[in-house]
Amino acid sequence: MTRTSIMLAAALFATCVSAPQLSVAAEPKASLYERLGGTGPITAVVGKFVSNVAADKRINGWFAKADIPNLKRQLVDQVCQASGGPCTYTGKSMKETHKGMKITTAAFNALVEDLVQALDTFNVPEQEKGELLSVLGPMKSDIVEIP
Ligand code: HEM
Repeated sequence: MTRTSIMLAAALFATCVSAPQLSVAAEPKASLYERLGGTGPITAVVGKFVSNVAADKRINGWFAKADIPNLKRQLVDQVCQASGGPCTYTGKSMKETHKGMKITTAAFNALVEDLVQALDTFNVPEQEKGELLSVLGPMKSDIVEIP
């Protein structure tokens, strides 16, 4: 082997070894709704979430007069739709719903903690937990009135 052919062989080897794997028939990624397990698991997480909120002294005052069964239904539809599932959220907009409630950033963060706890109770993986929180996070500016 000449010096040049050795270098060529080495370059070829390096290319083959470092070449990215091309998947010919990549599976389309399942929607977040599907990866969460569909309506059943979403309903279970929402149920636990609302019971965490009801037990959370930092924020449960806001929910003293709430229609809890309606709130759960609306949240299930909202999470189902926002995660790409076959539901339609028919409730009011986040801005209209929370208007005048004087919700603080601290209250918003407490509610997110209660949601994370519910997701952890059902061992929802980090990836899906993160995706769901990034779907809900942008609603903050429509909900919080007192920074
Ligand atoms: C990402 C965060 C939040 C989401 C996705 C969310 C979602 C919702 C939804 C879907 C409803 C029902 C709307 C309807 O019936 O048309 C609702 C109602 C309500 N939310 Fe929120 N909310 C959030 C944060 C908060 C926070 C931080 C508070 C207070 C600490 C709060 C307090 C309430 C109250 C008091 C109601 C009314 C319940 C009733 O009168 O029956 N929400 N929310």
